[in-house]
Amino acid sequence: MVENLSLGHLIYLLIVISVVKAGDDDWHGGWFPYAPDVGTDPNPVFTIRKNMYDPKHGVVMGVKDPHCDDAKTNLEIDWDYNPVNHSCFIFNRRQFFESRSDIHPVHSQDYIPKSYSAPHKCMSESINYNVIVPTFGTHRPLWAKYGEYKFLPRQRWVHNLEHGAVVMLYHPCADKNEVNFLRKLVKKCLYRHVITPYNLLSAQRPLALVTWGHRLEMSKVAPKIVVDFIRKHALKGPEHTARDGQYDLMLEEHSEVVSDLKDQELCKGLL
Ligand SMILES: *[C@@H]1O[C@H](CO)[C@@H](O)[C@H](O)[C@H]1NC(C)=O
Repeated sequence: MVENLSLGHLIYLLIVISVVKAGDDDWHGGWFPYAPDVGTDPNPVFTIRKNMYDPKHGVVMGVKDPHCDDAKTNLEIDWDYNPVNHSCFIFNRRQFFESRSDIHPVHSQDYIPKSYSAPHKCMSESINYNVIVPTFGTHRPLWAKYGEYKFLPRQRWVHNLEHGAVVMLYHPCADKNEVNFLRKLVKKCLYRHVITPYNLLSAQRPLALVTWGHRLEMSKVAPKIVVDFIRKHALKGPEHTARDGQYDLMLEEHSEVVSDLKDQELCKGLL
């Protein structure tokens, strides 16, 4: 472990030490708020080929490689195609959640050190997250094409977050009108968005927007809060590229450019 200590870890350690020295009594150190991923396979079946090596992420991004990730092979490791993940069935019957204005939106933030760089893992290794809605972490080398999906696994969209995307998640049993309203706002705000159902969201707040380090969970769409969130937190990922992804399984509608390809004006003309 010690010989694996990278410069990033050292810088992080220094941050930890200086924060502790600053005398914040409630702060106990450790990984920022949780380790970026858990339970990965220590014995990968494939090894990373030399030309696929990247000193920052382990595996280069955006290059299709059937021995690592070509957005086609071994996709079942991230999702077993179970329709439960994109259709509304609760105890075998359809029941949509009620959206309530008395349940306020919750914005939460993960404090990600600037020196953190997310590892890429080939499709031979599983990637798990120990939070329901990850805002950062290990992900696949190929990211998702922008747009709306019938279902997109989180190991893909976490990579889009790193490039500054806004990811809209909705429980398949969320109120259809609310889902439509949120979708409309997101599509009008920026090109760099991903929309997918996500049945792990709660019945209480079945709608979410995610950016690198931030999540906003909602019962009912408050347009001002949504637009403010996007203006403030979109395009803030550590990697600045508007380049489209490579993964497009179950992509139903490709994103349209809103202001320009770089999304220089977010939520143009809204509120
Ligand atoms: C699909 O839904 C099941 C049941 O809720 C859940 O355990 C699983 O993690 C979900 N899979 C994905 C890829 O979201």
